[in-house]
Amino acid sequence: MRRGGVPGRGAAAGVRGGGLYGLDVDRQLLPVWQAQFPPPTRPHLALADGLLGTMPAAFEVVVGNPPFGGSPDPAALPDLMMAYHWWRLSRRGGGSFPRELWFLERSLRLLRPGGLLGLVLPEGFLANKRWRPQREELLRTAQVEAVIGLPRSVFRGSRAAVKTCLIFVRQQAPAAGHVVRLAELDDEDLLCPAALIAAWDAGAVQATEAPWREA
Ligand SMILES: C[S@@+](CC[C@H](N)C(=O)[O-])C[C@H]1O[C@@H](n2cnc3c(N)ncnc32)[C@H](O)[C@@H]1O
Repeated sequence: MRRGGVPGRGAAAGVRGGGLYGLDVDRQLLPVWQAQFPPPTRPHLALADGLLGTMPAAFEVVVGNPPFGGSPDPAALPDLMMAYHWWRLSRRGGGSFPRELWFLERSLRLLRPGGLLGLVLPEGFLANKRWRPQREELLRTAQVEAVIGLPRSVFRGSRAAVKTCLIFVRQQAPAAGHVVRLAELDDEDLLCPAALIAAWDAGAVQATEAPWREA
């Protein structure tokens, strides 16, 4: 997470002024983080539940790879159900609302106006009839910039069965006539990320543009 200059508290998650932040609930991440990021440029790592506590809508960029499926901690559910509203858009209660959608709503709330979110999501969010109200809410309130399908190999080690995508969303009302860039990557594309980024910037061969709206 990269934070802009808006003051705020967010002490629950250990947010401090300026720069880059990481957040994860798993304390075992700390030594890995310390090994990966030597001082003095090591980003601050908040070891906290990312769904709980107040944090300012102050970040320029939020990126995340949230946990998929399952439900949040049942002990936290009453607080979550007070603080969030996407779960209300479904007929079923918050207890059966998957964790990635709590994180999607949370991540959007962390962005300052104009800020950009990049999140890994299961592709089911894009296609499953069940999440249509949440998709409509997303399209109504924010500008979806791009959806990029990832090859299954990307997360084969951890969640083999799930087809995933990257979704990029800007925290602003969608511009009139806005189109979403869509692309599907294969294993070969991932061998050379620099070429992939250049191709994307140049109007990538595989990227198509489409008005993404619920039919
Ligand atoms: C799919 S893994 C991603 C790990 C790592 N960020 C990556 O991209 O390789 C999901 C991560 O979410 C963390 N997590 C699960 N529930 C969380 C919560 N409520 N708040 C913060 N982090 C959570 C897990 O500890 C795990 O590290």
